[in-house]
Amino acid sequence: MTTATMSKSIPGDAGWPLVGYSLDLFRNMDHVVKERYERYGEVSWMRMFGNNFVVLLGPDANQFVYQNRGDLFENAAWNVLIGPFFPRGLMLLDFDEHRMHRRIMQQAFQKQALEGYLDIMNPRIAHDIGSWRESAHFEVLPAMKDMTLNVASEVFLGHPPGAEAERLKTAFVYLVRAGASVIRYPLPFTRWRQGITSRRLLEDWFRRELPEKRRSSQDDLFSRLCHAETDQGELFDDEDVINHMIFLLMAAHDTSTITLTNMLYQLARHPDWQTRLREESRALGKQQLSYEDLASLQNMKRVMKETLRLCAPVPSMPRRTTRDCEFKGFEIPANQLVTISPWFAHKMPEYWQEPEYFDPERFAPGREEDKQHPFQWVPFGGGAHKCIGLHFGEMEVMAALHQILLNYEWSVPADYRVRYDFRTLPIPRDKLPINLRRIV
Ligand code: HEM
Repeated sequence: MTTATMSKSIPGDAGWPLVGYSLDLFRNMDHVVKERYERYGEVSWMRMFGNNFVVLLGPDANQFVYQNRGDLFENAAWNVLIGPFFPRGLMLLDFDEHRMHRRIMQQAFQKQALEGYLDIMNPRIAHDIGSWRESAHFEVLPAMKDMTLNVASEVFLGHPPGAEAERLKTAFVYLVRAGASVIRYPLPFTRWRQGITSRRLLEDWFRRELPEKRRSSQDDLFSRLCHAETDQGELFDDEDVINHMIFLLMAAHDTSTITLTNMLYQLARHPDWQTRLREESRALGKQQLSYEDLASLQNMKRVMKETLRLCAPVPSMPRRTTRDCEFKGFEIPANQLVTISPWFAHKMPEYWQEPEYFDPERFAPGREEDKQHPFQWVPFGGGAHKCIGLHFGEMEVMAALHQILLNYEWSVPADYRVRYDFRTLPIPRDKLPINLRRIV
């Protein structure tokens, strides 16, 4: 679609010459989407990352895109943002092929599998948290990143810490960073080039380990994907396992890290909630959570929901139309990039009381502000591509926070407010420094 034809039906503007809105979005996505909604309403177009996107805002738009009646929207649009580094990851597949792969992968996310992952991650979390030192300037983001990478090494790969795990961790970090490169060509010394080399290193590692994983049956995710089979006998071939594993590492890592980091931030700013959660955790009388304990930590769940509302780790999602369609009277042509924004829907005063305010009770029975529209709270997406790892993510975040609460207390100065960098997923610009004190 050209700019000229778009402007006839859908209002909008290109933003700055060449870069469009890309730099504004990196700096302050929050402001850009709010301003767009005020100026144009639920449907508009804008230029970003070298393309024209139709921006659909609000819960109705989320519903239209996530429900995807008639297979109108393709997820392969993600390639525009994450580059060629995650080919054939589940999120990038579409329609019948996607449904088949999802059915197989689902086997690795059932309750019994999750219990096995929790047993592996608990001691790893205890080990990592045990090594933290009290500090008036403890940087939360790198500590969480390191812990979730170590958990991934053991739970996903079935690989204990050591030199090889470190090599894989580094390759993985380079790979994710490459997807968000500004220079998107493999020139020497660029992040893009580093990404290609890292992808090859990870593929080689998985290809080498695969035969052994196929032979034995263990509790890690790699092993489970090798053995996953549906009732109809569908299973993954070796290349599927490799592509899915590399994608899963990416999908799980930054999202869980950001959620944990933001929960520590909110609990630092709201010491009454920190105390409440610590008491709830202490009442369980154990250092490490079992799968059944998750259901009893209702306050922690509400804090997690509210944190995900205030900072959705995946703030927006791209799609591409497969044919002409219409939303609220606006015509959207075939082959058009479209984006929706959980971030924006989570802050709409039409649906949330004092949306900028941290108030986990808005999810409590009797109030349940989130229940006015089925697509107003969507940190895990919705429809066919809804996050397959949402219970895994919740389990990891809660298992870690439980142990942190029992061993530490933390604070930030009363006037501290986090500022996010939106170049990849939203992360605190200053890595979130806290005052960390051991309590046992
Ligand atoms: C708090 C943590 C997490 C958040 C907020 C989150 C968010 C999301 C969102 C919004 C999507 C949908 C993307 C779209 O519709 O285009 C998604 C998909 C996905 N997530 Fe998560 N995620 C989290 C944790 C995880 C974990 C721990 C795993 C794996 C263990 C995982 C694996 C996936 C996969 C495989 C998909 C693609 C599903 C599909 O296309 O069928 N995620 N996630």
